[in-house]
Amino acid sequence: MPESPAEQRSLNLLVLAAGLGTRMRSDLAKVLHRLDGRPLINHVCRTATALAPETIYIVIGHQGDEVRKAVLDEADGQNAVFVTQEQQLGTGDAVNAARSFLEDSDSTLVVLSGDVPMIRHETLAALVQHHHRYLDRGAACTVLTVRLSDPTGYGRVLRDKHGMFDRIVEQKDANDDERQITEINAGIYCFDSRKLYSALKAVKNHNAQGEYYLTDVPALLKDAGEDVAIFQHSDPQEIEGVNDRVQLANMERILCRRTISRLMLDAGVTFIDPKNAYISSESIVGRDTIIHPNVTIEGATQIGSRCEIRSGSRLVNAKIGDDVEIRDNCLIVDSEIGNGCSVGPMAHLRGRALMIEGSKVGNFVELKKTRLGRGSKANHLTYLGDATIGENTNIGAGTITCNYDGVKKHETHIGDRVKIGSDTMLVAPVKIGDESVTGAGSVVTKDVGDGELVVGVPARVKDKKDHGALA
Ligand code: UD1
Ligand code: CA
Repeated sequence: MPESPAEQRSLNLLVLAAGLGTRMRSDLAKVLHRLDGRPLINHVCRTATALAPETIYIVIGHQGDEVRKAVLDEADGQNAVFVTQEQQLGTGDAVNAARSFLEDSDSTLVVLSGDVPMIRHETLAALVQHHHRYLDRGAACTVLTVRLSDPTGYGRVLRDKHGMFDRIVEQKDANDDERQITEINAGIYCFDSRKLYSALKAVKNHNAQGEYYLTDVPALLKDAGEDVAIFQHSDPQEIEGVNDRVQLANMERILCRRTISRLMLDAGVTFIDPKNAYISSESIVGRDTIIHPNVTIEGATQIGSRCEIRSGSRLVNAKIGDDVEIRDNCLIVDSEIGNGCSVGPMAHLRGRALMIEGSKVGNFVELKKTRLGRGSKANHLTYLGDATIGENTNIGAGTITCNYDGVKKHETHIGDRVKIGSDTMLVAPVKIGDESVTGAGSVVTKDVGDGELVVGVPARVKDKKDHGALA
């Protein structure tokens, strides 16, 4: 099909995100509430970016600085222009805030709501195409609609006797007959930018909410003899808005179930109880990994194949190799665990902790910014912070790296094949040589050489053994 003249127009996007979201009953602006671990506004911006528009305009108001920061925190927000709506006088007024940028523009403008996060870019692309090809010359406005079994709360779309667009009536302004209508306005539109801003001048606030409604614009355009099209979409979930916390929770559940189904069907992951696991859509999990009930997997977590993640564990931006066992109630944040490692129960890894292949961390062990070498073990009640530990070293129960002197953090280096006795305090900065031994209860304040045995408080060299004697 040849391009219609309208298809040669450039594309801009406008996202409405200035409202407080009264129905959330929150001190946090609605678009900053999180879905799938990310603010609502970021979902919309990511979708908007996928359309490759010239510019994404974002109307901010309530907690505008925070909303701006959230958008800029993700790379998607890079071609965003922020426009401030001083007072939240309605969606029409919000669009009006961007007037100076867009009223003389020959572009096509897609208007999105910051609180409709599930819309897919494929759907928006189809909306734009419908808009550009309408009657071969393109429409002045195209309204995205959907039929809902329960349309309560949404603006209803009225059609004339020919089945063409007539007008939109908000729930609060609708009479009983109009409330029976199940076709609703998704709050997503495509406009001829110039015509939108011209019609917007005539919008009044004579309605139940005393607001300037963007929803009045399509009817004004129609009355002025312009073509107003309807693009009816078939998937109600995609256009669902978040107005209260019940809707937000429902959406979270839908997204999570979708992720879990995908992982079970496509990736070959076992969920013992799929209804009782939480996993972000960004997570990647390998084949034959088993996830037990009450596991939470957040952020961009990667888990390899044949792992077992036991109940009560939470993984945030974790990278886990193959054949790893995470036993019950572990917290693993921003950390990496190599192939064949075992962690927990009740272990805490954070701040770029790194476990190399075959190492083991056991009951009540905390690792912070620490590298645990291949085959090394810390099995019980231990804190290892700012430490580097070599291969095949054993850290006895109750060992603590005393890494903080009240002002600065200091490092501990422990070599290969070392035996740290139970209840050893390693007062950092300190180096423990290869194949050395510390006695139970020793407080190590000075570096220990290769093959030395140190004991006591403070620890003193008791013996210097060769490798053979220690093995
Ligand atoms: C709006 C539509 C309704 C549609 C529904 C779809 C209007 C008048 N009604 O209703 O027809 O069915 O969306 O989800 O448009 N906003 C501002 N500034 C304001 C007011 C709102 O930026 O002054 C932003 C909000 O932050 C939000 C979006 O516009 O992201 C929609 O506002 P909201 O109050 O949620 O409108 P609805 O009542 O849901
Ligand atoms: Ca809404």
